[in-house]
Amino acid sequence: MHRLEYRGYDSAGVGVVTAAGGLRVVKKAGRIANLERALAGARLDATTGVGHTRWATHGAPNDRNAHPHTDASGRIAVIHNGIIENHAELRARLEAAGVEFASDTDTEAVAHLLRAWLDEHADGTIAAALRAVCQQLAGAFTLVVVDAEQPGAVVAARRNSPLVLGVGDDEMFLASDAAAFIEFTRDAVALGQDQVVEITRDGYRITDFFGAPAAGKPFHVDWDLAAAEKGGFQYFMLKEIQEQPAAVAATLSGHLINGQVVLDEQRVDQQELRDVDKVFVVACGTAYHSGLIAKYAIEHWTRLPVEVEMASEFRYRDPVLDRQTLVVAISQSGETADTLEAVRHARAQKAKVLAICNTNGAQIPRESDAVLYTHAGPEIGVAATKTFTAQVAAVSLVGLALAQARGTKYGDEVAREYDALAAMPELIERALTVTDQVRALAGEIADSRAVLFLGRHVGYPVALEGALKLKELAYMHAEGFPAGELKHGPIALVEGGLPVVVVMPSPVARPTLHQKLLSNVAEVAARGARTIVIAETGDRAARTLAARVLEVPSAPALFSPLVSVVPLQTLAAEIALARGFDIDKPRNLAKSVTVE
Ligand code: G6P
Repeated sequence: MHRLEYRGYDSAGVGVVTAAGGLRVVKKAGRIANLERALAGARLDATTGVGHTRWATHGAPNDRNAHPHTDASGRIAVIHNGIIENHAELRARLEAAGVEFASDTDTEAVAHLLRAWLDEHADGTIAAALRAVCQQLAGAFTLVVVDAEQPGAVVAARRNSPLVLGVGDDEMFLASDAAAFIEFTRDAVALGQDQVVEITRDGYRITDFFGAPAAGKPFHVDWDLAAAEKGGFQYFMLKEIQEQPAAVAATLSGHLINGQVVLDEQRVDQQELRDVDKVFVVACGTAYHSGLIAKYAIEHWTRLPVEVEMASEFRYRDPVLDRQTLVVAISQSGETADTLEAVRHARAQKAKVLAICNTNGAQIPRESDAVLYTHAGPEIGVAATKTFTAQVAAVSLVGLALAQARGTKYGDEVAREYDALAAMPELIERALTVTDQVRALAGEIADSRAVLFLGRHVGYPVALEGALKLKELAYMHAEGFPAGELKHGPIALVEGGLPVVVVMPSPVARPTLHQKLLSNVAEVAARGARTIVIAETGDRAARTLAARVLEVPSAPALFSPLVSVVPLQTLAAEIALARGFDIDKPRNLAKSVTVE
């Protein structure tokens, strides 16, 4: 459960079928530590059970609404991820039949429905009950169920929310993510859409919701436990920031073969790629920021128009999509509901979908026409760091692959860009050396009311990402703006002592843009702002003008976000730590959001 806590940490609970034959449920609001205290000294004496960490959707995060939920007599325990969209209707029907609810959740209805079905089918199994109930549910769900009267079995179902099975020796596991069981087995099976699985000590059986035999997708987990542990760092996030050179290197590795950029999976042919006449990038949160960076590279290299859109907005505005549209879906988890639905909408309109994903075999890559994996390894800190830089590297590869297919770049040009990208891990390594300086600065501005972030060109998405990190981790008001837009309104926010962080372009590679940014720094400084500038090593003009300079190594403009974001990630983490917050588990957030 600790390894899945990144998915939600509002409350936690367990429900086990005890050797004595009953069901024992213990659940507590707050972190798993609260549950551990409640369980201290308890002998659960059980061989089957369920456990859950919650990210609240329906019902406040209190003890009552924590999972598992049970039927009235406490025989069946249910845990659930997702949202059962027709829960109100189901609840009304059950209440009309005399059922009393003990929580405000959408989940509880499932426990009562299972019980009602079993009461009507004297010889029915809990697996059959779950199949029947799933047929009545709308929305997204992973459900895992135990029944005290059918010990020795655990049943689960999934639709639009992940579920993996771990196949051990004389033991079986079910979890949202293989991280939960890699200590015991690396042999796993990803369950497919609308499937039910029953596990017993020595086997498993998968069917669809109607009982027809079905198969999952077997895979081997190729990362080890050490990759998912802190390795000497106090927080996962600090470790993951340091892992960025390796994450980017692993993402790029092996993708230039005989001078050609190759993806991991490609179910579209070269002609279809050549025919693409428009690109949409869809993603959420930090992945959306990597998408904004993708626009600059793809447009520059391919001359294709690129639109970047938050996945949650995409399908609700009837975007213009056809066979010649390529939709690039970027998602660390590969399971974000907003992005998944955007992918489905695009495919229904016959567009081609290319996924960039960090999780092998997740739903988004499975439903896409082509896939490029970011090999960043497991990211546990809720705020994305190494997966962001890996995504920026991956979108660059996608841009090169498109330029190559369309002939807008010659083979040797593609290889040169790839080599420049391949040199980036070394530069990120150097950017990481500013950590001590950043820590000192963080202490100075930790009490500010707000922080503004400014940038132009690719520095603008970096500014947005710096602001998002600060909001997520330090709970401070932070905004990212295109530096030129500042004078059209946001400059009214500038007052004495307000920290303004500016992402400077290279004075050598982009002198005109650099000059413009210098003017913007001067404008806010003149109004009393405390200016903090992320500048290329040796940028004397920036040094003269700004109150503080954090230097990053010089890099090609399109790849510069890979280095300029590093001090901003560290700044947000250090400010949050100075303010006393848990940077791995920021309040109200979850790493992977499987609800719309
Ligand atoms: C959540 C996380 C963010 C992440 C976003 C998209 O909101 O808190 O850090 O950027 O989801 O996640 P994805 O897995 O699709 O990249």
